Amino acid sequence: MRILDNRVVCYNFLIFATILIIFYVPSLLNKPDFFSNFTALDHRQNLSRYIYKYPNTYRHLKSEYKILLWTPYFESEDWNLDNLSTVFSSCPVSNCVLSYDKSELKSSDVLLFHTRDFYTSYYPLPKYRTNEQLWVLMNNESPVNEYLDYSKFNDVFNWTGTYHKNSEIHTPYGNVEKTSQTNVATDAAVDEKRTGVVWIASNCGDHTRRQLLVHELQKYIHVDKFGSCGEGKLSSNSYEKVLCTYKFFLSFENSVCDDYITEKFFRLLRAGILPVVYGGGNYKEIAPPHSYIDIRDFNNAQEVADYLSYLERNNTAYNKYFEWRKEYKVTMADNWCKLCQAVNVKRIPHQVYTDLDGWINAGSCKQFT
Ligand SMILES: *[C@@H]1O[C@H](CO)[C@@H](O)[C@H](O)[C@H]1NC(C)=O
Ligand SMILES: *[C@@H]1O[C@H](CO)[C@@H](O)[C@H](O)[C@H]1NC(C)=O
Ligand SMILES: *[C@@H]1O[C@H](CO)[C@@H](O)[C@H](O)[C@H]1NC(C)=O
Ligand SMILES: *[C@@H]1O[C@H](CO)[C@@H](O)[C@H](O)[C@H]1NC(C)=O
Repeated sequence: MRILDNRVVCYNFLIFATILIIFYVPSLLNKPDFFSNFTALDHRQNLSRYIYKYPNTYRHLKSEYKILLWTPYFESEDWNLDNLSTVFSSCPVSNCVLSYDKSELKSSDVLLFHTRDFYTSYYPLPKYRTNEQLWVLMNNESPVNEYLDYSKFNDVFNWTGTYHKNSEIHTPYGNVEKTSQTNVATDAAVDEKRTGVVWIASNCGDHTRRQLLVHELQKYIHVDKFGSCGEGKLSSNSYEKVLCTYKFFLSFENSVCDDYITEKFFRLLRAGILPVVYGGGNYKEIAPPHSYIDIRDFNNAQEVADYLSYLERNNTAYNKYFEWRKEYKVTMADNWCKLCQAVNVKRIPHQVYTDLDGWINAGSCKQFT
């Protein structure tokens, strides 16, 4: 009997090992295809699948809205705000007040929840709820970086506040606006001392395997790497100063998801470094014309590197990437104003996310094998 058992164990192991070799090893050898286009299934355009709208239930307007921070935000009870009473004071619509005092639950008009804090600590949902109260789930991480079981939260949240443009409160990491000021010269561009390509990242083992893309580029062009994937660390106050000595910045997102373009892109675009982008967002829509280089416009890493080397030599061509600065400006997000503005809108019927997981996940991110 024992011998038989061992044999069974051994067979099972062999089968397991074979499966592992057949499926896992090729996936290690296969390089992800960085240069093909990613088009998310445009599933969020049709929201009726995920959101139920109660018929004829338009919200009553009030003179003031009380907003309660129910969960913390990355473990900060006051959501890292310096002074809760001044958050809305310079907003176009400012009749909102913030609090994190849970005893004010019943008198609150809006409750904010932050996805990440549902699983760093246990935050039970409130037991009390009125029809008029808005429960809003805030989240700016890509689904690839989230592990919450969203199916437990169906029929709970009325609105979302995310980087997706279809969220009731759209909270992008930055904005590009047309400006009438014509005094913003192409200043950053003309500094001819700037040179080279820089990459900074803290998350090395991420699922897009963007470090492989950097590695490919490095075969043809020198790249200085900072952050925990690179050689040097940068403190947050020297960050922009150091990066601004370079001509190009590799703005590679850690996941390729629709609408997902993070803060670094906007910060460095504003600072005047030419971003070389890789991500799932619609750059054509959100960035000024001729303000970035998208690696997906090329067929391979060598073509990208050749083009960067060409721009490195030709300042006239390089500087053309900054002409947008005469007409546009980049601002970092102030999404509190948007929140206050949104809760003041009357013509939104009562609604609830009936399939939160579907809305967040289905087809929105590129899969890498
Ligand atoms: C949206 O989805 C609903 C439910 O799945 C379907 O009945 C409707 O035809 C869809 N609308 C469009 C424009 O695709
Ligand atoms: C917050 O701002 C209000 C209004 O400007 C001010 O009265 C109050 O002293 C400030 N509180 C703190 C802790 O700074
Ligand atoms: C440099 O770029 C400008 C503008 O794109 C172009 O007209 C010119 O021919 C380029 N010069 C060289 C040497 O490639
Ligand atoms: C929020 O969702 C709940 C649960 O479906 C619902 O009872 C309530 O009317 C909704 N409120 C608003 C303001 O949409």
